[in-house]
Amino acid sequence: MKKIIITGGAGFIGSHVVRRFVNTYPGYQIINLDNLTYAGNLANLRDIETQPNYRFVKGDITDAPFIDSLFASEQPDAIIHLAAESHVDRSISDPIDFVLTNVVGTVVLLNAARNYWQGAYDTHRFYHVSTDEVYGALGDTGMFTEDTKYDPHSPYSASKASSDHFVRAYHDTYGIDTVISNCSNNYGSHHFPEKLIPLAINNIKNNKPVPVYGKGENVRDWLWVEDHARAIDVIFHRAAAGETYNIGGHNEWKNIDLIGLLCSIMDRKLGRPAGESAQLITFVKDRAGHDLRYAIDATKLKRELGWKPSLQFEEGLEKTVDWYLANEEWLQDVTSGHYQQYYEEQYASR
Ligand code: NAD
Ligand code: DAU
Repeated sequence: MKKIIITGGAGFIGSHVVRRFVNTYPGYQIINLDNLTYAGNLANLRDIETQPNYRFVKGDITDAPFIDSLFASEQPDAIIHLAAESHVDRSISDPIDFVLTNVVGTVVLLNAARNYWQGAYDTHRFYHVSTDEVYGALGDTGMFTEDTKYDPHSPYSASKASSDHFVRAYHDTYGIDTVISNCSNNYGSHHFPEKLIPLAINNIKNNKPVPVYGKGENVRDWLWVEDHARAIDVIFHRAAAGETYNIGGHNEWKNIDLIGLLCSIMDRKLGRPAGESAQLITFVKDRAGHDLRYAIDATKLKRELGWKPSLQFEEGLEKTVDWYLANEEWLQDVTSGHYQQYYEEQYASR
């Protein structure tokens, strides 16, 4: 594989995937295709942007003529597709963008792959990055496996489930070499501060209320973003065509316990008395249709391809806090402008 288009490479996970591929495979050409929405930020890739095997192309995956011409001119060997609208709360207030980017955008890419790879599927690969949220919600026990029936509840997860179905349909119907991975919640550097962990870090730092939805009883399985990027690398290179792999951290936390841990780390890092940051915790109106619990069984990935998470959560969370405290300018940049408006609208109603 020589030339790979990575979509959504300016976003949170995409930037870690781009960095990993650019640094690990100097013989590959990596093209980062991103439309730079509010969530896309080229500052995420400053450290690798001058590497000879990296290029950025600004473009919209829903723009079929543009995507067709990009395939014709670049003739990529593979796609690693991460571009998406990714925030559940935004999908509840504005679902249409999620259908356009996540469903239509994915089909536009699949169609370009079908047209330009012309049946040469043994030398081309379409890797679709998806989420555990397609499986719906768990009760107190059980885990999602690759065989769990799809049961999405939010407009975001419904759009990702739909895109997964299209990817499988293009494999089954046209024979395209596709691979899908469904991952749990990621955390780490460059995470946009509308999501729980970076939002809480930012608010604690600025002595603002930390909004916890409902009673904070919901459970998520957290994975270090660089471990996700490594899993994508392994699956991209070694999975058989048509395969699906779950990726997870074996690291379940109730939101309220996670925020408690984060508050204690922040107290220590900011030199505050123990317990001070926890006073900022504020219970707010629950998210509509809030999935109770996600838990990923990643046994297949470990058994077949040897991947497992590398980092303990406490260590990863410390590293994450350190990164945000050391990157004040990044945080300032992404929380100016439209972010303020989003934040006020989102939390005013809670
Ligand atoms: P993100 O919101 O941080 O980044 C998305 C990127 O896609 C941005 O750079 C944005 O500019 C780009 N983009 C959006 N619409 C586009 C369009 N129409 N054309 C081109 N580019 C466009 O998202 P993320 O959290 O990094 O998630 C990346 C992928 O991983 C998504 O597909 C998401 O569903 C999936 N995923 C995320 C998580 C998580 O915890 N964040 C977990 C599992 C799976
Ligand atoms: O499971 C994978 C998914 O994880 C990805 O597919 C999504 O793209 C990603 O955004 C993430 O979805 P979540 O909804 O789980 O992440 P979020 O950070 O928005 O919320 C995590 C939990 O914290 C969830 O139970 C809702 C809660 N929450 C969130 C916010 C933003 C709060 O209690 N308060 C908040 O302010």
